[in-house]
Amino acid sequence: MAGMDDIDYERYDRIRPIRWTGEALELLDQRKLPFAQEWVACRSSDEVADAIHALIVRGAPAIGIAAGWGVVLAARTVIAENGREATQKLEPALQRLNAARPTAVNLGWALARMRDTLANAGATWREAVELEALAIAEEDLAANRRMGALGAALIGPGSGVLTHCNTGSLATAGFGTALGVIRAGVAQGRIARVFADETRPWLQGARLTVWELQQDGIDATLIADAAASHLMKTGAVQWVVVGADRICANGDTANKIGTYQLALAARHHGVKFMVVAPSSTVDMATASGDLIEIEERDPAELLGVGGVRTVAEGIKAWNPVFDVTPGDLIDAIVTEKGVIEKPDTAKMRAAFPA
Ligand code: MRU
Repeated sequence: MAGMDDIDYERYDRIRPIRWTGEALELLDQRKLPFAQEWVACRSSDEVADAIHALIVRGAPAIGIAAGWGVVLAARTVIAENGREATQKLEPALQRLNAARPTAVNLGWALARMRDTLANAGATWREAVELEALAIAEEDLAANRRMGALGAALIGPGSGVLTHCNTGSLATAGFGTALGVIRAGVAQGRIARVFADETRPWLQGARLTVWELQQDGIDATLIADAAASHLMKTGAVQWVVVGADRICANGDTANKIGTYQLALAARHHGVKFMVVAPSSTVDMATASGDLIEIEERDPAELLGVGGVRTVAEGIKAWNPVFDVTPGDLIDAIVTEKGVIEKPDTAKMRAAFPA
């Protein structure tokens, strides 16, 4: 079986959703994929916040990276002698970026990192924020490659996997989290079958994940979300591999709506359940999933497909876009720091000491 060193990253990792030009933050518009590849240029931190809210850029790590560059853009509008003074002047922009989406902790994490950098920088604070934004992106890519190796090693040869939402290059600095494990597992010959959920209502799986895998030449089969339990019953998948938006101190994990029901079905069918996320998604300050704010989006996302209304006028809809999988339904949490099997508070504390 091929090792991780044999991974041809050029072949298995071609897409980049975020470009910093030195003047603007360019985002590959994920609302338009897969049929149009259009870039949106953000020239202010408020434009970045709007792009995050509108899902032009999405996926927990990608949101954090974009917010970092948002701070760099905001810094261009501020005159300050030192980083401490700049932090005070930039605080409103930081708050607006932070409010763009509530569930993914990577957003607040990246902004806290930018704030710390500013507070500790002297007269060269402008250079410091730019270097920090770049470091956030570069560390994310490195973490994803490491997680790919760690996660793939858990998967037996000839396995089938099911994934949910989009956790690939489009959702990160590159390579992806759960999709990085799948890329590595396919490259190593461990994964023989890949299934992807549509991921209603925004269709991240149907519009993004299978397209992204197609770019790599990885054969993937799309299924309706409602087909997942039936698929597990056939024995075609041995692992469900998903990403995360927030992992709490007890292992409870927020991720795209529908993840929780996959974990329940997986446990029932003896299918293993793996969460793959960088340590920037771990939130040891939140004790359990009950405390996570779940984003609710416009019910209109449920009332039509591709802009065509499918539901009678006057019908109400409820559109929570994340759910929480209890830690005791998770077989392994994979971060770049290592693998936590059967997570609980004690194992999480040992892996992520205060
Ligand atoms: O609403 P989205 O598309 O931003 O939700 C994304 C997810 O839930 C992903 O699974 C998660 O952010 C991890 S991305 C590496």
